[in-house]
Amino acid sequence: MLSAKIYLDTNRIIGEISPLLFGGFIEHMGRCVYQGIYDPQSPCADEAGLRTDVMGALKEQGYAIMRYPGGNFLSGYNWLDGVGPKDKRPRRREMAWQSIETNQFGTNEFMGFCKKIDAQPMLGVNLGTGTIEQAAALVEYCNGPAGSHYADLRGLHGYREPHDVKYWCLGNEMDGPWQIGHLGMDAYATKAREAAKLMKWHDPSIKLVLCGSSNDRMPTFPEWDRVALETCWEQVDYLSMHYYATNLEDDTPSFLATAQRLEDFVDTLAGTLRYVKARTRSKHQVYLSWDEWQVWYKDRSGRGGWTEAPHLSEENYDLQDALVVAQWLNVFLRKCDVLKIACVAQVVNVISWLHTRNDELLKQASFWPFKWVSNHARGNALDAWVRSPMGETKQYGCVPVLDVSASHDPATGAGAVFVVNRSLSEDVTANIVWQNDAPKMLKAGYQISGDDPKASNSFDRPDVTVPRLLNGRALDSNAFALTVPPLSFTALLFE
Ligand code: AHR
Repeated sequence: MLSAKIYLDTNRIIGEISPLLFGGFIEHMGRCVYQGIYDPQSPCADEAGLRTDVMGALKEQGYAIMRYPGGNFLSGYNWLDGVGPKDKRPRRREMAWQSIETNQFGTNEFMGFCKKIDAQPMLGVNLGTGTIEQAAALVEYCNGPAGSHYADLRGLHGYREPHDVKYWCLGNEMDGPWQIGHLGMDAYATKAREAAKLMKWHDPSIKLVLCGSSNDRMPTFPEWDRVALETCWEQVDYLSMHYYATNLEDDTPSFLATAQRLEDFVDTLAGTLRYVKARTRSKHQVYLSWDEWQVWYKDRSGRGGWTEAPHLSEENYDLQDALVVAQWLNVFLRKCDVLKIACVAQVVNVISWLHTRNDELLKQASFWPFKWVSNHARGNALDAWVRSPMGETKQYGCVPVLDVSASHDPATGAGAVFVVNRSLSEDVTANIVWQNDAPKMLKAGYQISGDDPKASNSFDRPDVTVPRLLNGRALDSNAFALTVPPLSFTALLFE
């Protein structure tokens, strides 16, 4: 049996945890919107055609923000297609995913959906085929007071009150040659700055997210980020980052060490932010928005054959994928001083832990880690001191067997500790010690684990990987010992 020590000092604070770290992403891609969010034919649909079973699951997981409408889709989208009377909305050939877009769900339907699940909307403006004028017009349509063309158009469409959308993305993955209307570094930076200017003239209270590199493998990473930031620093509030984790090599020990790579990615961009802030002699602060993240490698299908709501990228997640998701959430807490927004891509059917099949709904293993961290990481992230046994990996060398994050809320006294055991075969007994304003007891715990990293839930066998409840108990001198099984994620809740 391996052993570890975890010390949690409530005064050793990394930063305040932004609730917006627990966000989602909805794209017009495959069956995410149609048959996922919006499915008027389904007996599960409410009066607006939204699936109540899906909304119930999303509320259970607790999303604070929702990014929409893409993704690659965004860069060919004319938002005017998706507003106004539904029978007048055009059916279009959608280029990014080569599907038929009916436009039956658009900006106003999305606002209604966000209200129902208590999430803030985050809208993208098209900087591919779109102009800066169209971008500014969308801000006017959503946030403008009555009395001008686009604000009045909103009124005509049945929405008198402004939607007051605070968070806006300046395009999507504009460094990617796959992007409709892909731009070079300088061209994007200038277009983003000019769009930002007009958008903020319409509503100075909005917060803008600049496109960073699509991922850390891009040949222009991190130069793209530096150039875009230097051009737009004073106009923007966040820099976006995207990353999809893979295990194409079928190398589970390395895959289970993905947090190493994720932290490197954040650290490089945090360094870039500091550099640009110093270089521009600015007092303004820009943070990171990890607005697309997920495991994605089993189903990369992206061409819909010009059909409506095709099955695209319907990834089937297993236990090892769930343990990577759990580490991702740990990284969010450990980097919460610089990382303020994150959106999992996507929330249903497409690259998602939630699948619909007719009127059924399937929760895959990674559904649970998100739910637990999103619902229980509150207040401050703590700089946990961890002495863990180490394990060898091909891609990352020697890494700690335990991956840990922790939170403590001084307002309520509640604490939470999140522990991944990466070992494929060994139990680890962790001695957890709270210091200073220590909680008094372990209220409860949740755990997922299993012997097989490739075990996954399916519609026929939905209960292969399901949560186990751990009993609460009083702490003995602020400490307690817990044995975590191999291939596990444990969320411990203290009060
Ligand atoms: O989420 C799927 C796609 O992945 C998004 O459209 C794009 O931004 C990313 O490449």
